[in-house]
Amino acid sequence: MNRTRPKIQVPRETIDEIRSRSDIVEVISECGIPLRPAGRDYKGLCPFHDEKTPSFTVSVQKQIFYCFGCQTGGNVISFVQKHEGKSFMETLEWLAERLNISLPNQDVRGSLNRKRFTALEELNRFAVEYYHRQLLTENIGTPALKYLQQRGVQPKTLRLFQLGYANAARRNLVKVATDEGFTIQQLVDAGLIKDEARGPQDRFWNRILFPIQNERGVPAGFGGRALSEEHQPKYLNSPATILYNKSNILYNLDKARQSIYKKQTVLLVEGYMDALMLYQYGIENVVASSGTSLSENHASLLKRFTPEVIIVYDGDASGFQAAQRGLHRLLAEGLRVRVALLPQGEDPDSFARQHGAAAFTQLTDKAINLIEFQIQAAIQQQNIHRTDVKAQVIKEINATLLNIKNRVERSEYVKYAAKELHVDVSVLWHELRDLGLKEAPAPYRTRRNKTAPKKSSPRAQIETQLIEALIQNPELIPYIKSQFHYKDLTEAHLVKIAQLLWDACTENEGVDIQNLISECPDEKLRALISNALLRKMPSPNLQARVEGCLKKLRHFLLQDLEQRVRSHALAEGADEMETLEELVKLSNQRRALAAYPFHETE
Ligand code: UTP
Ligand code: MN
Repeated sequence: MNRTRPKIQVPRETIDEIRSRSDIVEVISECGIPLRPAGRDYKGLCPFHDEKTPSFTVSVQKQIFYCFGCQTGGNVISFVQKHEGKSFMETLEWLAERLNISLPNQDVRGSLNRKRFTALEELNRFAVEYYHRQLLTENIGTPALKYLQQRGVQPKTLRLFQLGYANAARRNLVKVATDEGFTIQQLVDAGLIKDEARGPQDRFWNRILFPIQNERGVPAGFGGRALSEEHQPKYLNSPATILYNKSNILYNLDKARQSIYKKQTVLLVEGYMDALMLYQYGIENVVASSGTSLSENHASLLKRFTPEVIIVYDGDASGFQAAQRGLHRLLAEGLRVRVALLPQGEDPDSFARQHGAAAFTQLTDKAINLIEFQIQAAIQQQNIHRTDVKAQVIKEINATLLNIKNRVERSEYVKYAAKELHVDVSVLWHELRDLGLKEAPAPYRTRRNKTAPKKSSPRAQIETQLIEALIQNPELIPYIKSQFHYKDLTEAHLVKIAQLLWDACTENEGVDIQNLISECPDEKLRALISNALLRKMPSPNLQARVEGCLKKLRHFLLQDLEQRVRSHALAEGADEMETLEELVKLSNQRRALAAYPFHETE
């Protein structure tokens, strides 16, 4: 927690002393875990996961705990940290206090501060009890009780949550608390009263009070709900105090944490009532962000208890936007996040009341991941079928995909996104690659629009093979040049390279490729030539390969010619006889080519 505590440095020896003098079995038992002796060790039901037979083992001899079910383990300090949700420092303080060890460097200011905390905690506890009693007192609490009843809050729930009532009078708490010995200053410091010109006034009046505890159950502040529409604001909360900072506290975390541990997931809702009602329905792993935007502190607080968060915000525009912001906060903290979408106009409380806990659980089981959510967001906001919108959505989604660290997960998300957006996975992968992703699956590893061969036609493949062979074996160029015009190639960049090669090859001499590279004005072509050179491999049947290429290219050329003659005839109504003769000649040549390689030329 972000309290302004003095920074305490605890020397190594003191930490060791605290650890060695704390009996781990005692501490774990004190934390409410029943342990039974089993041989030299102790066993119990693991508090960190759900189990029916004990696999949680505590070794007295080694002073460690280990669960064979969920592989959680550690020493007494790590147990208290994890189980009680305390920081390392808080754990040391807690254990030291148990052992009556005083931590060094706890200077006077430190212990004064601590006294101040303790006094305010006590005052808060007093206020919680007082307001709770007021609620249950006949005549005084009746309107509030009726209201709660109407909303379906059962008596056991309002006791468990210690709901309270502040009636319409303005100086109730001032009086009872000062009678009890608390000072006006303490009441002001706790945010319970306002010291005004007309004298001290209670902050809360005519409201139902939701006591707010920190994750360890220490009462920190209140949320007060008005009983009628006219009384505004709907909720009045405690101001920031040394105990209450809304960006550090999640409502109900103290009660929910055991269940969060066990389920390894938490439901994050907006409202006090949402958390309280779900808890009543037996859905206990629920906390509320209480209407404030989820902070970094909230996220790291949750991270201490669970790897996964399911956001269940209200089914309205602002709930949707808050979910979107919360999602990114939580992801940034390294949590897995999903979002459950409620029907328009519903909140978790109203939905569970209307449809029951089972239906609510079904809804959260179907919570969607961030990609699905982004697509939903895009669909909600605009017309996904428009190409420009789709391109924009792809861009946004890719930014998110890029942030996913786990490859397998990323790959699944890419598949999903491609399906939903009706685009090919390769589109997304190439885009990701262009955005700097290094680890795309093999087929998508190269950048688009660059040198990489796209799915090229058989003819382009033959042409590429031939030109590469020539670059690698320039001594063949004079021969090929005598057989072939560079303009007979179809691929533009190959035509250019062939032209360079043909031009450089004078008087039946081979071509110095290195020279060619240094003289080539076109950067792209230079790269292509260098690339072909780099991939040079010894080729024993080079001659056969090159002649194979030649033969196939001639075949393509003749096909071209036939095609041209045919379309010419159709277009111009040319002499039919002449056309026919030409066609016969060409197709004969083509057939001859197949039968007797390399002898025929046109
Ligand atoms: P909601 O308006 O959704 O309230 O605000 P709710 O919890 O569902 O309450 P009911 O069902 O109407 O009684 C969600 C949360 O936002 C904070 C509160 O924490 C509330 O629980 N809030 C809301 C405020 O702090 N002040 C307000 O005026 C309203
Ligand atoms: Mn509500």
